[in-house]
Amino acid sequence: MREREPYAWPKLSILVGFSSMPVRVLYIGEIVGKPGIHCIKKALPLLKEQHRIDFVIANGEGATGGFGIGKNHSIQIHKLGVNVITAGEKVYYKKDMVTHIPKSPYLIRAANFPYGNPGRGWRTYTAGGMKLAVVVLLGQSGFQRVHPANPHLMLPQLASKLREEHDAIIVDFHACTTAEKANLFYRMDGEVAAILGSHTKALSADGRILQGGTAVISDTGRTGSLFGIGGLEPQTEIGKFLTQIPERSKEYWEELELQGAVVEINEKGTANEIYTVRFPVSTENRMEDDS
Ligand SMILES: [Fe+2]
Repeated sequence: MREREPYAWPKLSILVGFSSMPVRVLYIGEIVGKPGIHCIKKALPLLKEQHRIDFVIANGEGATGGFGIGKNHSIQIHKLGVNVITAGEKVYYKKDMVTHIPKSPYLIRAANFPYGNPGRGWRTYTAGGMKLAVVVLLGQSGFQRVHPANPHLMLPQLASKLREEHDAIIVDFHACTTAEKANLFYRMDGEVAAILGSHTKALSADGRILQGGTAVISDTGRTGSLFGIGGLEPQTEIGKFLTQIPERSKEYWEELELQGAVVEINEKGTANEIYTVRFPVSTENRMEDDS
């Protein structure tokens, strides 16, 4: 009698169903206050159409007055068409987010926060037939009050685990310095589809595909006032800088822009292209957002 062949499990690519079509992702640079939410409202439907976007990620940690994101603003941004909202060191600045984030599958905080912190550091989404993992990591240099675990040690392990069950991995690296960002870019080249920098709110001109196929950019910019300091009213920010006396920052409505990056991800889980977007937005009808 012929010996039975051992059962061979189908390949992972069959199990998860690789899509032959690339998936196009729009990452929206940090939303600063109500002017930033206004930009999403005005620009996102057009951008989605013009750039054939399948999936939208936005950094929302400054959506509530520039410092943190409250529950209501997170719901509003999600309803405006943002699939995933990420947040860095300011994730818990608004108290209601601490209880809202564990219940909200569209919100992600940094994976290298202490184990057991409210919320998740990565989540799974489906877009264009692909199973995507979105991960957020905080950098270590430059943050004065936050001391997360080492992202450079964490990501290789996390990515190898996520690759078993996902078609592609997108990383939002929320860090202060381009040096730290570049370190992670080259360490993880070929292991993830994209590493998109955030936090500095200054759109950088260094978007590129590395040799292993990973799309990278140092910073995806801001969504809000181009003329504000970090998107906020300049005189108040100058005063704080000169005197070190804390004062409440003010939202600013001068020269609004939605900034970010578009990444096309292929069936190999790497990137075909990356380019930045700048979409000027008028302040028309701003009162309806200014409640
Ligand atoms: Fe930040």
